[in-house]
Amino acid sequence: MKMKIFSLLVVFILVNFCNAFITKKTFIVHMERSKMPTTFTKHTHWFDSSLKSVSKSAEMIYTYTNAIHGFSTQLTEDEAKALQSLPGILSVLPEIKYELHTTRTPEFLGLDKSAGFFPASDIQSEVIVGVLDTGVWPESKSFDNSGLGPVPSTWKGACEEGTNFNKTNCNRKLIGARFFSKGVSLYKGQSLPSTLLPFIYAGNASNATNGNLCMMGSLIPEKVSGKIVLCDRGVNARVQKGAVVKAAGGAGMVLANTAANGEELVADAHLLPATLVGEKNGDEIKNYLFSDPNPTVTILLDGTKVGVEPSPVVAAFSSRGPNSITPEILKPDLIAPGVNILAGWSGAVGPTGLAVDARRVGFNIISGTSMSCPHVSGLAALIKAAHPEWSPAAIRSALMTTAYTAYKNGKIIEDISTGKAATPFDFGAGHVDPLSALNPGLLYDITTDDYLNFLCSLNYTASQISTVSRKNFTCDDGKKYSVTELNYPSFAVPLQSAEGGFTVVKYTRTLTNVGSVGTYKVTISSPSESVKISVNPESLTFSEKNEKQSYTVTFTASSMAPNTNIFGRIEWSDGTHVVGSPVAFGWT
Ligand SMILES: *[C@@H]1O[C@H](CO)[C@@H](O)[C@H](O)[C@H]1NC(C)=O
Ligand SMILES: *[C@@H]1O[C@H](CO)[C@@H](O)[C@H](O)[C@H]1NC(C)=O
Ligand SMILES: *[C@@H]1O[C@H](CO)[C@@H](O)[C@H](O)[C@H]1NC(C)=O
Ligand SMILES: *[C@@H]1O[C@H](CO)[C@@H](O)[C@H](O)[C@H]1NC(C)=O
Ligand SMILES: *[C@@H]1O[C@H](CO)[C@@H](O)[C@H](O)[C@H]1NC(C)=O
Repeated sequence: MKMKIFSLLVVFILVNFCNAFITKKTFIVHMERSKMPTTFTKHTHWFDSSLKSVSKSAEMIYTYTNAIHGFSTQLTEDEAKALQSLPGILSVLPEIKYELHTTRTPEFLGLDKSAGFFPASDIQSEVIVGVLDTGVWPESKSFDNSGLGPVPSTWKGACEEGTNFNKTNCNRKLIGARFFSKGVSLYKGQSLPSTLLPFIYAGNASNATNGNLCMMGSLIPEKVSGKIVLCDRGVNARVQKGAVVKAAGGAGMVLANTAANGEELVADAHLLPATLVGEKNGDEIKNYLFSDPNPTVTILLDGTKVGVEPSPVVAAFSSRGPNSITPEILKPDLIAPGVNILAGWSGAVGPTGLAVDARRVGFNIISGTSMSCPHVSGLAALIKAAHPEWSPAAIRSALMTTAYTAYKNGKIIEDISTGKAATPFDFGAGHVDPLSALNPGLLYDITTDDYLNFLCSLNYTASQISTVSRKNFTCDDGKKYSVTELNYPSFAVPLQSAEGGFTVVKYTRTLTNVGSVGTYKVTISSPSESVKISVNPESLTFSEKNEKQSYTVTFTASSMAPNTNIFGRIEWSDGTHVVGSPVAFGWT
């Protein structure tokens, strides 16, 4: 406490000291180029002469010749006023410092600068991130390479002709640019007056059967004009509902979740003042709308809330298991931030993506797997930089076996669409924990040949395999391949209902030691009496780095209720590292 008061005093004294002696501030001076008197041959001479006429001691800090003409300098308020009145001066504006907006996710993931993830930055520039998604906008600031040094010599890629990419400015270290993006200017949000406006339920302002959804052309203008309209979420795009309300003359929109989305709130760049409420609040608002003869409402900005709990939660739109193609492989692998992410945005469409949206923005708030994937790709790049010899499968293993499934209070991560505890069919191995992933202790590695053997176990034909292998590879007719042999860091066990008897399934796994030498012991969470998990051997001793040790898991299932899922967990620990794998049983 004493310490704090002391430092406050020091700051106070320093501030006063500065006020007394340094009264100059930085100004940006915008000059009208064509007004330069003919007595000057260079613009910079004209800038300097104008400046010197108001302050003998002032110097130009920067001169600007591209986007604007002018310079920056330090002046007193009086000098700035005098400069403003000179011929050829368009504006003299005080410098404004903008704060970074991309601040939450790095800290949420434990990646703030103090975390020690970044010191090996020289190595990181060797990492190239490839992103496959709907497209890129190369002009985006997120792709700005300034200060990143030359392209790594290992770069084998080519850049598309006709864009502003070339071999020297091809984007790399995308995640670096995303995590530390420089000037971010978001479009201005729309706002309503704080006075209350008439409020109406879309279902009462439409003659269509699903008028509550605010589908195109379904609202009656006379009923919604000048009002705030409550629309139900679902079927058509959220931003489209806003466009429909606006087109019908509505002043604003309250969008209400139904059971399909529960309490999940996603931000959208609506075309009119709008907000989204969860199902519970939505139902309460409807009760009010249906019971009050003259309901009124307004939408006000309540500021940014950080540290909202519980967090993370599984998004309602997140894809779920079981794996419908290969039920023996658990999907999803893991979860990562993907809701309301500040991200670079194309200049080709407005932030809603609707044709009627003429706005153009450099950044937008977006939700989806497309937002989660860059987070995980970036983390993979950071891990690759720290461990260049690790394969993609090894990096995935590190991210999965160190992921967390519970909050600090011990409660399991919530599924926002149900409000209940999520399962490995929702979050896979759990939420990424990048700092732990740097030092996982053991890895489940997979080689190219392991994947090819896996394709053999799925009975792929030689020509199907060659389309992905790009080398001649034939499955060995004499060999018995098994889907359960793929060295995956998680377990999915599809079980057939076996009347009266037992179903016994065995999976083998191989662990590679990437930590210190030592002995790992297994801990098994068997889900219920009806399914037993046993591991052999129960302890694995590693006497050197990169040593491999295998184990077998036996799943024994008896009396089981069909169409239910049960979950367990297998953890190896040497007392320092915990190498965890989820187990998901599904009955067919
Ligand atoms: C690549 O692009 C950069 C930036 O636009 C430019 O400075 C450089 O001259 C270009 N290099 C080649 C080889 O075209
Ligand atoms: C508005 O819609 C609700 C739900 O469809 C209905 O119960 C209510 O009677 C309607 N109110 C009016 C005034 O039409
Ligand atoms: C719904 O009402 C609007 C406005 O009153 C009218 O133009 C439209 O034809 C009606 N549609 C139907 C399907 O009744
Ligand atoms: C592949 O073929 C074998 C032999 O016909 C069969 O036992 C096995 O179930 C098949 N595997 C898959 C994944 O279809
Ligand atoms: C695969 O084998 C065929 C026939 O032996 C040969 O023509 C072809 O070049 C080989 N392809 C590769 C990628 O090695």
